[in-house]
Amino acid sequence: MADELATRGIDFDRPNAARVYDFLIGGKLNYAIDREFAERILEVRPESRDLALLNRRWLRRAVRFGAEQGIRQFLDIGSGMPTVGHVHEVVQSIDPEARVVYVDNEPVAVAHSEIVLKDNNNAEMVQADAEFPDTVLEHPTTERLLDFGRPVMVIMAAFIHFVPDSRNPAGLIAAYRDALVPGSYLALSSGTFEGQGEEVRRAAELYRKSGTDVFARSKEELRALVDGFEILPPGIVFTPQWRPDDPAEAGERPELASQLALVARKN
Ligand SMILES: C[S@@+](CC[C@H](N)C(=O)[O-])C[C@H]1O[C@@H](n2cnc3c(N)ncnc32)[C@H](O)[C@@H]1O
Repeated sequence: MADELATRGIDFDRPNAARVYDFLIGGKLNYAIDREFAERILEVRPESRDLALLNRRWLRRAVRFGAEQGIRQFLDIGSGMPTVGHVHEVVQSIDPEARVVYVDNEPVAVAHSEIVLKDNNNAEMVQADAEFPDTVLEHPTTERLLDFGRPVMVIMAAFIHFVPDSRNPAGLIAAYRDALVPGSYLALSSGTFEGQGEEVRRAAELYRKSGTDVFARSKEELRALVDGFEILPPGIVFTPQWRPDDPAEAGERPELASQLALVARKN
């Protein structure tokens, strides 16, 4: 079994961001090394669990918004584990014909997504390094499911903070943007140090030491990353503040979500 997992590229030597995140949102697709690390994060920053759940709730609102604007094609970059209320469940509940391509490079996320999606003709998983947009955009699955002659919503939820400035995240987003026709959307959330206490920096330091660097960004830095898109109201806000279903949902201290979110349109 260990050999088989190793041949799929599963790394047990260090915690993995996708599996740690899965543990934080109450999933079962994680290993002891991920859980031990997540417990250390929770010791430093007990709100980390809420952070992940608030991000997932924002993601559901953002894709529902996309579907309400008429979008029927979704490209979810760094999609993670197939948790309950995944993108295809939300958008296919609005239109069963809506198409979703998930992209991740973490083998456990890929394997489980494949299982969850095996009977779904309109949603599929692509295993690829999303930092190479051509590999994603020219992948046979992407080409089969998505028609880039029509609008697409690209989703980058809690993904771009794994890409340092030295690897040109603006250029990466621009490469996906250039593949889109006007009327397409980008939904993006990212870790930030804006409004955060010292404990969030300590949690980020733990991630760095574990081998996964997190590059938190300010509103202004995120605005620069999505150049060429029009950021829609309410702008760049903490995840629970983005079009909450009920205003009370944003809570009194939305900054505890530690992640900023936006939805933007290519005009
Ligand atoms: C924090 S999780 C977010 C999961 C999901 N998007 C969400 O918001 O709930 C980040 C995901 O990005 C994936 N990821 C990080 N770098 C990647 C890359 N270069 N290519 C593909 N996936 C990547 C990780 O494997 C992980 O599943």
